[in-house]
Amino acid sequence: MDRLAGKVVITTGAAGGLGFAGVRAMAAEGARVVMMDLSPTVHDRAEELAGSGFDVTSHVGDVSVESDVAGVVALAKETYGRLDVLWNNAGLVSGGWIDQDTDVVGVSRDFLVRTLEVNAVSVFLGSKHAVPVMAESGGGSIINTSSVQAAGGDLALVAYGTSKAAVNYLTKSVATSFGHLGIRSNALAPGLIPPPAAGAHQLEAVAPLRMMVDSQMLDAVGEQADVANAVVFLASDESKFITGQVIYVDGGVTGHLPTLSDRRKRAVA
Ligand SMILES: NC(=O)c1ccc[n+]([C@@H]2O[C@H](COP(=O)([O-])OP(=O)(O)OC[C@H]3O[C@@H](n4cnc5c(N)ncnc54)[C@H](O)[C@@H]3O)[C@@H](O)[C@H]2O)c1
Repeated sequence: MDRLAGKVVITTGAAGGLGFAGVRAMAAEGARVVMMDLSPTVHDRAEELAGSGFDVTSHVGDVSVESDVAGVVALAKETYGRLDVLWNNAGLVSGGWIDQDTDVVGVSRDFLVRTLEVNAVSVFLGSKHAVPVMAESGGGSIINTSSVQAAGGDLALVAYGTSKAAVNYLTKSVATSFGHLGIRSNALAPGLIPPPAAGAHQLEAVAPLRMMVDSQMLDAVGEQADVANAVVFLASDESKFITGQVIYVDGGVTGHLPTLSDRRKRAVA
């Protein structure tokens, strides 16, 4: 398995669910990965992968702090001599945070600003510091984790949705400005992907999951591997003619008019 042989990757939010699954998938394809996270558990996660023979380095830092972001880019260059892929994936999505994210009346200014800093300013900073280093070796691929939440209005998640809409714009801006340097920039927009621990009863255990599945074209629950597979593709040269795109990994939630429930009713009639 060598679809990413020789490539040097930075992944943020690498201790989390999607981040760790994506790092493992990229490392299994031969990538050397610098794993960054605010949580020191990123060191244990990296040890786990190193124990399986993968070439990874871990780094604790805050993606909203410019010196931390500059530091992880410098670390990648110092450790591996180059940078080919940056996956801006860290995000504020813990239950404790996202449960407070209601609407413009209910959310405070500070809550909105912190969400924007971690979810979107991080993409600005990561791209800003990665582009010059990628350009030194002829280009690279920037991948940003967006969300279906930016695809339309909702009754809640005003801060999260606003931050992911900014991620989509930054993705296109970077792709436009630096394509001539061989730098690609794409966003991945997952639907709701529950952690594997949610297990057999996940449709009941994970709050909005039943609603999401009922709104999908596909009758399936999204898995971390679905996102990891897309990350490997965007990191690899297989996607060398794809840039400036938001790619939905969502079972079809965002791709249709509100007709599916009607179809289901007809199916059971
Ligand atoms: N899981 C889903 O259903 C889903 C759906 C759409 C989009 N996403 C996006 O995917 C990304 C990963 O989410 P996840 O589900 O793996 O969540 P997660 O909570 O498991 O992982 C997020 C990681 O980001 C880290 N992090 C948070 N703030 C940080 C900061 N300031 N600096 C550095 N690291 C920080 C956390 O410590 C955590 O390890 C997020 O951007 C999220 O918005 C997730």
